Amino acid sequence: MTWFVIALVLVVAAAVILRWRRPAWYWLTFGVLVATVRVLVRYASVMDACGLTVPPSRWRLALARVANRPVPESRVPRILRLRPTRTGLVLRIKLRPGQDAFDVAAATDRLRHSFGMYGVTSREVRSGVVEVRMTGYDVLKQVQMPAKTDTRPMQVPVALREDGSVHYRDYRAVPHGLTLGATESGKSVYQRNLVAGLAPMDVALVGIDCKQGVELFPLARRFSALADNPDTALELLEALVSHMEEVYQLIRAEQRISVAVPDAEIAADIWDLPEDIRPVPVVVLVDEVAELALFASKDEEKRRDRIITALVRLAQLGRAAGIYLEICGQRFGSELGKGITMLRAQLTGRTAHRVNDETSANMAFGDISPDAVLAAIQIPAETRGMAIAGDSTGGWHRIRAPHTSLRQAVNLCNKYADRTPDVPALAPYRPTVAALPSTRVPLSKTAPATA
Ligand SMILES: Nc1ncnc2c1ncn2[C@@H]1O[C@H](COP(=O)(O)OP(=O)(O)OP(=O)(O)O)[C@@H](O)[C@H]1O
Ligand SMILES: [Mg+2]
Repeated sequence: MTWFVIALVLVVAAAVILRWRRPAWYWLTFGVLVATVRVLVRYASVMDACGLTVPPSRWRLALARVANRPVPESRVPRILRLRPTRTGLVLRIKLRPGQDAFDVAAATDRLRHSFGMYGVTSREVRSGVVEVRMTGYDVLKQVQMPAKTDTRPMQVPVALREDGSVHYRDYRAVPHGLTLGATESGKSVYQRNLVAGLAPMDVALVGIDCKQGVELFPLARRFSALADNPDTALELLEALVSHMEEVYQLIRAEQRISVAVPDAEIAADIWDLPEDIRPVPVVVLVDEVAELALFASKDEEKRRDRIITALVRLAQLGRAAGIYLEICGQRFGSELGKGITMLRAQLTGRTAHRVNDETSANMAFGDISPDAVLAAIQIPAETRGMAIAGDSTGGWHRIRAPHTSLRQAVNLCNKYADRTPDVPALAPYRPTVAALPSTRVPLSKTAPATA
């Protein structure tokens, strides 16, 4: 008996310590079981208390009356599946006639309290079926990406969503992206995660970093072209526009449309071309975009206009040629001059880190979702890296990228340096890098110097 009591005390103590220090381990060991039992036991009463029941149907009432039985109870949505995950539970329910997905969405906060979970979100899977995702702990506090993620070409698992699922940056679904945020909000770390995710893929990386290259130049071994000032950036962007034109010539030469060619084989973008002649896709990462749009003299104004024109052309025509833009900045509105809103309209993928005012948040989400604008302003300053990301369906999610340090990203880029493709049009802008040092030396010495 005493041994049993000692063992029980030890288990309870372990659970309490894990819950306090390692919530993710607690969830996998104790939490998942406790939560599953709690949800199953409380389900009917919680649904009733949250107003998610429907009164019994007429025929059941009539049947009860005829059989002289007590009045049947209200009915709750039927549980189709309850699946435990690495971070929480996924509950799939079938709605009763007269209920809609909005009822469940409106009750998520009440469900969260009633089931004792950390977060609850819901989405409609198909007509009448709603998925309620619950998280057992704050998954964004210390982001840990799952070991296994979807691997598809041009799709990067870049961050974790608050419901515990992985947030992907899918360049083929959403070709161009805009990332906004106040200073020190985590934009460059987000971009670094993208580079780390893209490094092992067959893709050419092009970087424009007007902060004198401090963010992207240490990663130079994996970059096919880099620019650290607006003058080089202009030449590089114009070279990209000519590369795009060459790719279109190639696609046209390969189209050879005749009546005998089936619809599915007509090439309209690089992905329709045979693999052996397919040009490598290019991801253009621009950090601190405002630097490209500001000017102080007449000459600089001309340069600025040419840069914005090249960016607009790439944004409008680049997708089919496999050129994808990833633009980062603190603000990106009409105060940066003409052409900016036109460019912004082409940047479908929106991510906003913490912003200090509504107008900045509006630049990302004003035309997409007013709720997302509010959520972006409410991100607390101490949770750097937290962001609101719009998705292709018009919805939005709270996300946070893992904290990849510059050293980790440099090591990864060095590891995949041999995957850096040569894009002939961009050859003059390829950073010159010294041979890999045999021992680890301070970053400042390994960083390549020039574009
Ligand atoms: N996902 C994250 N998780 C934890 N900490 C983060 C995360 N992202 C950023 N940080 C912290 O915030 C600091 C600033 O991040 P970052 O340099 O990306 O900001 P920024 O928005 O690019 O700022 P600036 O506009 O000044 O360039 C980082 O040094 C890091 O300590
Ligand atoms: Mg930055």
